[in-house]
Amino acid sequence: DRTESQMLIIFGASGDLTARKLIPALYNLHCGGHLPKNFLVLGVSRSPLSDKDFRNKVALESSYLEDENQKGNSDHLSNFSEKLFYHDIGNSYEDSYESLAERVKGLNSEFKTAYNFIFYLSTPPNIYEVIAKNLSEQGLTQQKKGWKRMIVEKPFGYDLASAKELNNSLHKYFNEEQIFRIDHYLGKETVQNLLVTRFANSIFEPLWNRNYIQHVEITNAESVGVEKRGGYYDSSGALRDMFQNHLLQIVSLVVMEPPIGAKAEEIRNEKVKALKSLRILTDHKSLNENTIRGQYLSADINGDKVKGYREEDGVNPDSTTETYVAIKFFVDNWRWKDVPFYVRTAKRMPTKVTEIVIHFKPPHHRIFTDSGMFNKDNKLIIRIQPDEGILIKFGVKVPGQGFKVERANLDFYYDSLAETNLMAAYERLLLDAMQGDATLYARADEVEAAWEFVDPILNFWKTSKDSMIYGYSAGVWGPQNADDLLEGDNTWRNPGS
Ligand code: BG6
Repeated sequence: DRTESQMLIIFGASGDLTARKLIPALYNLHCGGHLPKNFLVLGVSRSPLSDKDFRNKVALESSYLEDENQKGNSDHLSNFSEKLFYHDIGNSYEDSYESLAERVKGLNSEFKTAYNFIFYLSTPPNIYEVIAKNLSEQGLTQQKKGWKRMIVEKPFGYDLASAKELNNSLHKYFNEEQIFRIDHYLGKETVQNLLVTRFANSIFEPLWNRNYIQHVEITNAESVGVEKRGGYYDSSGALRDMFQNHLLQIVSLVVMEPPIGAKAEEIRNEKVKALKSLRILTDHKSLNENTIRGQYLSADINGDKVKGYREEDGVNPDSTTETYVAIKFFVDNWRWKDVPFYVRTAKRMPTKVTEIVIHFKPPHHRIFTDSGMFNKDNKLIIRIQPDEGILIKFGVKVPGQGFKVERANLDFYYDSLAETNLMAAYERLLLDAMQGDATLYARADEVEAAWEFVDPILNFWKTSKDSMIYGYSAGVWGPQNADDLLEGDNTWRNPGS
């Protein structure tokens, strides 16, 4: 079995992501018995660590190992840590690949990993190419003996041009089928469940179009600020950090046409088509009217003084980087003609929540004029996180005389399913890559199509004198101006408030 033997080689292994996400995910996979039979992890980084230091630092002492019970199981832990190895690449990722190749070959024969290698790049993207080139020069990318795959972290490019350049340079050393671009939102059960909700039920899909849907609203809110990532975030901003990748991935799953089947390419083909059908905002007027950006200001939240964005460590005190973005756009295809999409993402919101709200049109003819509270639309609310589940809002008759209609909820929670244990996104995605399944990874053309939509907005914000950035107090639902995006008397659904 070609999945039973493999080595995972992580570049940037002493970094935050390895400790916070990758090792805990691998550990949980180990505890669940999901790791391949002959398997090891080789961490590569510039810190001078021994295998033992790496095991202690990253694994044994990690406060990120999620399942406390499993953490307490010392057999599990020691068996797992024996699979971890470390290689110090020296001062830079530019050279010294001979000794890395030696190490990889040695471990490969010792642990019978059959020359099946996954290279995981958790380094700044500007060195992806140099790593790929060196691996290739050392013969480590040859697929004659065993398969080779590469997983790359976001950000995938900084804009359209750099994303294309990055794709071109990786394609010199790896075929597209070997490249796995990670977007951890695709690893979330509830994001995948969008496909099932739409295409495994006959009660939603017939209504999933302009005839019945009034508008679509997607909210991604975080209550935290930029935490310790001020330096990275300040050169990125909400549009690049969240919207270009996670949010547009969700949009593509909401917008896409039914795929002919559930294979990776069948689904990804439809997603690309969906992304390509987004109407790109090009002229000054539409960019100005349909994009709102904001930045959080200091505030007192429950007696705690919370810093404003410009006071955060690593952030330029005059920064104009956005921590809030809301965009209204249309999708130019048969299904979605004239249906507005409102999508927002932000930090320092009142709560952490990601949800999709499908607002249905009211019935053509209203019979019950005495409709009381239920004078609005039906809604389908897909809760991506937290309280993962699906809520349908519909009208019911209020008992008593007449036909007073009120809103009732049909509410499904994932945790009501017996024995559900939602696998963390990184666990699911790593396991898929180990098995060679790229369905939940972004393809080159998807990433580029997403940048095509985002690029003109970035340019507009950078160059236009009348593009405003609004302040909002930490802990509120963003700048007031974002309400003006919505048509008519529609308002954003602010969950929990
Ligand atoms: C990351 C962003 O990709 O996603 C972070 O870089 C953000 O800024 C994070 O906090 C949010 O992920 P989740 O899974 O907590 O919604």
